[in-house]
Amino acid sequence: MQKGSFITFEGVDGSGKSTQAKVLANTLNKNGYTTVLTREPGGSIGAELIRKLLVEGDPDRWSPETEMLLFTAARRDHLEKTINPALKEGKIVISDRFADSTRIYQGATRGDLRSIVDNLHKLMIGCEPDLTIIIDIDPSESLARGLARGSGEDRFEGFGLNFQQKLRRGFLNLAADFEERCKIVNGTQSIGKVSSEILYLVYSKLND
Ligand code: TMP
Repeated sequence: MQKGSFITFEGVDGSGKSTQAKVLANTLNKNGYTTVLTREPGGSIGAELIRKLLVEGDPDRWSPETEMLLFTAARRDHLEKTINPALKEGKIVISDRFADSTRIYQGATRGDLRSIVDNLHKLMIGCEPDLTIIIDIDPSESLARGLARGSGEDRFEGFGLNFQQKLRRGFLNLAADFEERCKIVNGTQSIGKVSSEILYLVYSKLND
């Protein structure tokens, strides 16, 4: 059913992916593309309600299993209400996180649930992005950036540096598993250098 293109950004907390997703959407819009910039958890009215449950409060508020179900419920709503309708209209959907975050956060870092995450994904979501940009950065730098946001949405940063280091390894392994779809960009470079590398990858994919 897909007519548009689906691009996702992934990485550890504070990696700069939200900034880069915005820069990409603006650049593509200026060049005549129609984009929908969205995010997970969230991106639809229902999924934004679920987001609040997930990103605020005590780190131990939910088990990894419950989190996996909540993230997947949010994603299903996001897919039905936002992503699929936009793709059907031929738009470029740019999402700040998608299913790879559940694979790594709940599947390989918070819990050891990867095969359950994959099965649930197949049952309830059943699609992958055309291109995933993984912004790689040293977690000690990213953790400082994440907490500095002071948004109150820091439940996952609350798990600490060791957790973020596990996440980083998880995302790098994921890139090796899905090398066609996932591209790593060095997030320690200047914002301009990171965004031009991303733009090159995106245009290569769009002109495939
Ligand atoms: P954000 O800070 O990128 O908006 O994401 C909110 C937090 O939720 C972030 O710490 C990553 C986490 N997360 C998961 O644990 N699993 C998921 O499936 C998603 C989408 C996000």
